[in-house]
Amino acid sequence: MTDIKSYVNQNKERFLNELFSLLKIPSISADKAYKTDILKTADFVKESLLKAGCSLAEVCETPGNPIVYGEKIIDVNLPTILVYGHYDVQPADPINLWDSPPFEPVIKPTDIHPDGAIFARGACDDKGQMYMHVKALEYMTATNNLTCNVKFMIEGEEEVGSPSLEWYVKRNQEKLANDVILISDTGMISNQQPSITTGLRGLSYLEVEVTGPNRDLHSGLYGGAVANPINILIKMIASLHDENNHITIPGFYDNIKIFTDAERTEMEKAPFSLDAYKKALAIDDVDGEVGYSTNERSSIRPTLDVNGIWGGYTGEGAKTVIASKAYAKISMRLVVGQDNQVISELFEKHFKSIAPKSVTIKVTNLHGGMAYEMPTDNIGYQAAAKALQESFGVPSIPQYSGGSIPIVALFENELKSKSILMGFGLNSDAIHSPNEHFGVFNFLKGIETIPLFYKYYAKLFKES
Ligand code: BES
Ligand code: MN
Ligand code: MN
Repeated sequence: MTDIKSYVNQNKERFLNELFSLLKIPSISADKAYKTDILKTADFVKESLLKAGCSLAEVCETPGNPIVYGEKIIDVNLPTILVYGHYDVQPADPINLWDSPPFEPVIKPTDIHPDGAIFARGACDDKGQMYMHVKALEYMTATNNLTCNVKFMIEGEEEVGSPSLEWYVKRNQEKLANDVILISDTGMISNQQPSITTGLRGLSYLEVEVTGPNRDLHSGLYGGAVANPINILIKMIASLHDENNHITIPGFYDNIKIFTDAERTEMEKAPFSLDAYKKALAIDDVDGEVGYSTNERSSIRPTLDVNGIWGGYTGEGAKTVIASKAYAKISMRLVVGQDNQVISELFEKHFKSIAPKSVTIKVTNLHGGMAYEMPTDNIGYQAAAKALQESFGVPSIPQYSGGSIPIVALFENELKSKSILMGFGLNSDAIHSPNEHFGVFNFLKGIETIPLFYKYYAKLFKES
């Protein structure tokens, strides 16, 4: 019987070629112009599931982009793993900052990935990571090594807040019934230090509109006498943090999870170099909430950030104008204890309360979700830890991540099962940025590790 390492070795060129075909389709969910490519990608995923051994695979219609479902049920007495991933990707812009075209994948070595990394939009987030599961299934069915039933649910709207997933999950409870959910859409500490994500932040994403006068005005004739919405917006935004970088919205920190000194000391043991961090980002210093480390600031503490701000004249040269309106997109990363809906309401109430009478404020809620915390005392976590230990040769460590996958909380509520976040990306892989990439090592290591998860999960399930 072929072991997984030799199977991967014998087939890696083909695996990479297949992934390249997937990466070439620009399945950008944020832009309706790519709808045909979205449908093409869904079809590609369906076909690849069938080729990998699923006995059933289908493209399921939703009010938005389709969800690809596949399954291979071998024995009702065995546990069922539900694999979740997403086939949609972020927009590629700013396109001129890519060293190679975002939808023409190439392999190039980097300092962190000396064996080469696949450069393409979606290489790491999440096509490359999702496809590891498809290839792991291929190995397990081809070599008769499948130890669990498996279901796949691959969606096409994750990058826009998964608006149709709840609709789908609520209508397909039985079909999606499972013992554990396995997701590779996060990262690990380094290629030498595997980790399992035990926390994700929640999110509240809003757009604000500040309106002053009913039309754009000559900034000489009116300047100084009427409110300038842009001036006012930036003042209001600046006031949302105090001198210690605490967020000033009343009630914002109520009920949030506070970590004990012992827990914080434990977390600080994870390998991290502040110098390397600064160097990689070309910054002389870091910034953030007083009293917390860089790792804490970017994982267990809530944040408020402006993602974009616009208004007035931004074309070439100078135009003297006081704009009628100013806008900003604002996201808040949330932690355990914060409800995204409550936080959005607190934001709106506070933002309106600090606005001068000379302007009117409109706040639109774009999307959001709750933070998630994964306990380690369950067989899913333990199976992942054993699998990583075996394939990397060193013990993995639990780690809170700063990113968000809002649907994980929905899965827990609707499907009553835990999600195991066994991701193989690195923070430096530039997801959502120009030159996104995914290590060839990481891609192949993921394919090697996943069957071990199945093996240990089946074993622990039987013993429990
Ligand atoms: N895969 C990411 C989330 C992620 C990446 C979590 C790395 C942990 C480590 C996901 O595709 C994503 O980008 N999520 C969005 C939120 C979503 C609602 C648009 C995010 O975190 O900004
Ligand atoms: Mn993702
Ligand atoms: Mn993403």
